[in-house]
Amino acid sequence: MSILKILKYPDPRLRTVAENVIKFDKSLLNLSEDMLETMYAENGIGLAATQIDIHLRLVVIDISEERDDPMVFVNPVVTVIDNKSLVPCEEGCLSIPGASVEVTRPDKIRLNWLDIDGEHHEASPEGLLAVCIQHEIDHLEGKLLVDYLSPLKRARLKDKATK
Ligand code: NI
Repeated sequence: MSILKILKYPDPRLRTVAENVIKFDKSLLNLSEDMLETMYAENGIGLAATQIDIHLRLVVIDISEERDDPMVFVNPVVTVIDNKSLVPCEEGCLSIPGASVEVTRPDKIRLNWLDIDGEHHEASPEGLLAVCIQHEIDHLEGKLLVDYLSPLKRARLKDKATK
């Protein structure tokens, strides 16, 4: 396994829209293991392949206190069940070190994904997992936390990031 380099805002490659995974082979398994190792090394709770400049719909997450519950989501799709149940949360991002942005997202969602063997799963995550998976799917779409800021605050953050 190896620790991969994480792209940092405002690197334009973070704006790439990722493609569906279609090959479930050893290299996908290796990639997900490298992503988990990278996430743990950086003390993150989630990492999207986009952030390591691989533009496939692959996400790893671990929201456990003990850091012993690695989850891998391939081609994750979120469907909002109730778009009135919105919950605000302060989010950080390994690609924007030091930033903390309040984002309001739906809390009642359905999540469909494939595991590393290509098996289909469905769940209704809530709380931190619901927030985290939506944050990571944003990455797969080329969307970043800064997009939730006002233009003024975004400009300030970009200034800081490029200094
Ligand atoms: Ni992020």
